[in-house]
Amino acid sequence: MAVAIVTGAGSGIGAATARMLSARGDRVVCADVRLDFAQQTAGGLPDALAVEVDVSDSSSCERMVEDAVHRFGDVDAIVTCAGIEKHGAGHEFSEEDFDRIIDVNLKGTWLSARSAARAMINRGHGGTVVMIGSINSMVGNPGASAYCASKGGVLMLGRTLALDWAQYGIRVNIVAPGVVNTPMSAKSLADPQKRAKMMEKTPLGRPAPPEEIASVIAFLTSDASSFMTGAYVPVDGGTLAAW
Ligand SMILES: NC(=O)c1ccc[n+]([C@@H]2O[C@H](COP(=O)([O-])OP(=O)(O)OC[C@H]3O[C@@H](n4cnc5c(N)ncnc54)[C@H](O)[C@@H]3O)[C@@H](O)[C@H]2O)c1
Repeated sequence: MAVAIVTGAGSGIGAATARMLSARGDRVVCADVRLDFAQQTAGGLPDALAVEVDVSDSSSCERMVEDAVHRFGDVDAIVTCAGIEKHGAGHEFSEEDFDRIIDVNLKGTWLSARSAARAMINRGHGGTVVMIGSINSMVGNPGASAYCASKGGVLMLGRTLALDWAQYGIRVNIVAPGVVNTPMSAKSLADPQKRAKMMEKTPLGRPAPPEEIASVIAFLTSDASSFMTGAYVPVDGGTLAAW
């Protein structure tokens, strides 16, 4: 049975991913900065572990992987769903908010993937890393400069780590969701004007439930995608096709 770590597993895409990987038989480590959220996800799954992690902190990421190895003996996959967003015009945005978004979304993706990859390499086997980018890895969004910069960074981080780690049999792919119905997007989707604008750019005309992202993540953490690495995989209802 594979062992998969999911960061940001307390909510949204991470929670749906933890549930889907568990349903196919993986032993899942549900990691989140909100331990209560992680426990809620893990509590509904057989043989799952809840772990508190701040992905922007390297020792916290190392501990998360140690806990996974201690409980389940190994790590085969990591999915980095932890993320934050804050809007504000570029000239008004605070340095503190900019740093935090980059620290969590970009550096945190690297730190958590690095800790998992070290464990895989030390054990002499490969594995899979799935990073969550965004359509904003490729296209800008007004008022979201820090977020878009972080997601553009995740794309190049993932592509480059795919090159670094191919020799160890570790595949790294980047999933790019469009509009997904989660707590992160709830406020925008609840505003009729904002929702209409978002749907205008989504040819399928609806937001995705998080399970429609999780199913692609499940594919990318399975042998069905064994020749895929360094791939940017939009799951966006057609948004990028129409750009
Ligand atoms: N919802 C969307 O429309 C959408 C679109 C594109 C990309 N994404 C990306 O998908 C990922 C998941 O987003 P979501 O929509 O499920 O959001 P969400 O807010 O529902 O879940 C994010 C989770 O990350 C956790 N988290 C935040 N900071 C953390 C930290 N420092 N360490 C560990 N965990 C932390 C939160 O506690 C939360 O449980 C994010 O990277 C987001 O940018 C979301």
